[in-house]
Amino acid sequence: MLNIKSIVSIAAAVLPLVSARPASLGTRAVLLPEDDPFYQAPITIDSSAPGTVLKSRKVATSFFGFIPNPVEAWQLLYRTNAVNGTAISAVTTVFVPTGAKTDRFVSFHTAYDGSSRDGKCDPSYNYQLGAPQEDIISSVEFLLLQAFLIDGYIVSAPDYEGPDAAFGAGRLEGTGVLDSIRAVQNFGSTLGLTTTTPAVVGYGYSGGAIATGWAAGLQPTYAPELNIKGWAQGGTPANLTGTTVFIDGTAFSGFLPQALVGLSSPSAYGATLEPKIDSIVTTEGASQIAFAEANCGVANLLQFPFKSVQSIEFQTEGDRILYDPVLAYALDQQLMGRFSNETPTAPVYLFHATSDEIIPYANASTLYNEWCGYGASVDFVTYANGGHATTEVLGFPGAFEFVNSAFAGTVASGCSQQTKLDSTLNPIALGAQLEPILVALLNALAAAGTQDANIKADVSNFAKTIT
Ligand SMILES: *[C@@H]1O[C@H](CO)[C@@H](O)[C@H](O)[C@H]1NC(C)=O
Ligand SMILES: *[C@@H]1O[C@H](CO)[C@@H](O)[C@H](O)[C@H]1NC(C)=O
Ligand SMILES: *[C@@H]1O[C@H](CO)[C@@H](O)[C@H](O)[C@H]1NC(C)=O
Repeated sequence: MLNIKSIVSIAAAVLPLVSARPASLGTRAVLLPEDDPFYQAPITIDSSAPGTVLKSRKVATSFFGFIPNPVEAWQLLYRTNAVNGTAISAVTTVFVPTGAKTDRFVSFHTAYDGSSRDGKCDPSYNYQLGAPQEDIISSVEFLLLQAFLIDGYIVSAPDYEGPDAAFGAGRLEGTGVLDSIRAVQNFGSTLGLTTTTPAVVGYGYSGGAIATGWAAGLQPTYAPELNIKGWAQGGTPANLTGTTVFIDGTAFSGFLPQALVGLSSPSAYGATLEPKIDSIVTTEGASQIAFAEANCGVANLLQFPFKSVQSIEFQTEGDRILYDPVLAYALDQQLMGRFSNETPTAPVYLFHATSDEIIPYANASTLYNEWCGYGASVDFVTYANGGHATTEVLGFPGAFEFVNSAFAGTVASGCSQQTKLDSTLNPIALGAQLEPILVALLNALAAAGTQDANIKADVSNFAKTIT
């Protein structure tokens, strides 16, 4: 589940830019998704095919500094599926830079890591000019998204957690991504796409890699008609049970109550999980759950550090909770790489730090072995000198290069592994055009410290400086 720290570190570096955003340009009040009628699905949704565009509107988005000209942006409300197959809707924001390539687009999966039921963690809300920056994660990853825009790509950034902010529900996120790609394709003539089968490459780190990895694995069966050229994902939570035992009781335990909330949303496993959790939570646990239902990632980290969801202070089953059949089933459903028919057919770029302090490296390495065993093409890059946050930055040039190669069709097939010892970025790694982005990323690396040392030393203090 997530990648807060990366957020935190990068956020510290770009905070001055965030505050410099021209908030005064936003004349239309931006409404929370729960109050914004645009987010409400019409009744025709039930009879529409997944990926149908139910509503569309142009929006003004907020850029902090790197793109001189306004970028045309659209929001599409599209039909997708709940875990149980019921029709639900989600929104994707599509950015169309001037002079963009018109036969392809990037599907960008922001690590928004939140389960707030009012929708305030949704990227589509946060990207709008004038929205209060409740979710610093989306704001910060916006920098990486802009690298793709500057490079001339149309970018679609879906609210892949769907209408209930089902954080952690990988299967729902994967189909949410795939249906957003269908929606962009269906809306292609308005966006200026010159083909009905645009080439697509997906990108996501940490929470965004849950969405990316599941979209990659489900695509061959769920959306085989799409022209997918590749998937780049890093800091991948391939095993939520593994992530839970790894971070429970640490500085990053705040991801867990919100994952419980996300998994127990109606569109995910709520029918069985919500009554189960309600029946075992303590008063303290219930108040933590209520907090997670109303707040985004960084706030949750500050709320629940060094606490344990496996303790009897949180729920009455204590450390037997992970063996409870109802919760174990929901967690088990999130295991990537388990079934051969959930293996990506497009090439995958997988990167992960050996000392990732939030998402266990071993589980990503297991995913590499599983997918390769099932015949996938995966390039697995191990960062020997990164933490979770720093590796989002250190690994970005490699992921960016993969995206370009995947579109060009020059990625080698088969599986390969390499280890990188980098602990800083080559200033020209993304090309001269993207130097301003690189400079911000270098600042972020400095702020995070080697292997995230500054973040690990005091995550609360670090987060407070940016909220
Ligand atoms: C997932 O994590 C659990 C808990 O650490 C572990 O027991 C299990 O072996 C892991 N499975 C895989 C396939 O990674
Ligand atoms: C099926 O999904 C819908 C849409 O999220 C939800 O309202 C409903 O409660 C779910 N039903 C069950 C039994 O999970
Ligand atoms: C997954 O990660 C957990 C937590 O570090 C670890 O206990 C488990 O052995 C790992 N399992 C596999 C198969 O990767």
